Amino acid sequence: MKRFLALALVLVMALAFVGCGETSENVLTMGTNAAFPPYEMVDENNNIIGIDAEIAAAVAKKMGMKLEIKDMAFESLITAVSSGAVDVVLAGMTVTEERKESVNFSDSYATGIQVVIVTEDSAIASIDDLVGKKIGVQSGTTGDIYCAGDYGEDAVSRYDNGALAVQALLNGQVDCVVIDNEPAKAFVTANEGLKILGTEYITEEYAAAFGKESTELLDNFNKALSELKADGTIDAIIGKYIKAE
Ligand code: ARG
Repeated sequence: MKRFLALALVLVMALAFVGCGETSENVLTMGTNAAFPPYEMVDENNNIIGIDAEIAAAVAKKMGMKLEIKDMAFESLITAVSSGAVDVVLAGMTVTEERKESVNFSDSYATGIQVVIVTEDSAIASIDDLVGKKIGVQSGTTGDIYCAGDYGEDAVSRYDNGALAVQALLNGQVDCVVIDNEPAKAFVTANEGLKILGTEYITEEYAAAFGKESTELLDNFNKALSELKADGTIDAIIGKYIKAE
């Protein structure tokens, strides 16, 4: 019996030790591509701010974790999260069947719409006019994938981020830019002489992406997210960055 107690004690201590290790590592590492306002962008102090950063911070807090954000190329995000280099991706990332082969998505927290940015004097008036035009996109985004599918590889000019695609439009290197509606609004506000076409291209859902093994983290994330939706936190965060029209 004594021996058993001693053994039990050792076991309890060992478990307590493991537990400590876990609390000191209670960091949620999020990967993003911080060139996608208002979901993620870098402020004047070099901090990553935006809807995704704030939602992730609120969810992490609910899960008793501290958030750390890593900025990387959009095209590296799926690999980063499926290899475990980051725990989660929030990047205004659209849920697609193809991405689901590599990652698991959380419940959706926002809707995105692919729209078309043109110069104010453009002859392009609707989606139908895109045939035969040069389309600027951010590499690896759904805008890129859909346009390459609908208008052909040759129609698409790929840039590292949306701002560079918009710059190419201003320089006359492309005829339009296809990108998500909220960044589109931010880019059009920041640059003179641009407008967004009234006809929308494709509507999609944004969600957080997890590695296929991180099922427990995904469950906890969804639980925290639904609580934050119910108590109005998510709406408040979105409302801070996106003013209702
Ligand atoms: N919603 C689009 C997609 O998932 C674009 C996302 C781009 N996000 C970013 N942080 N640059 O492909």
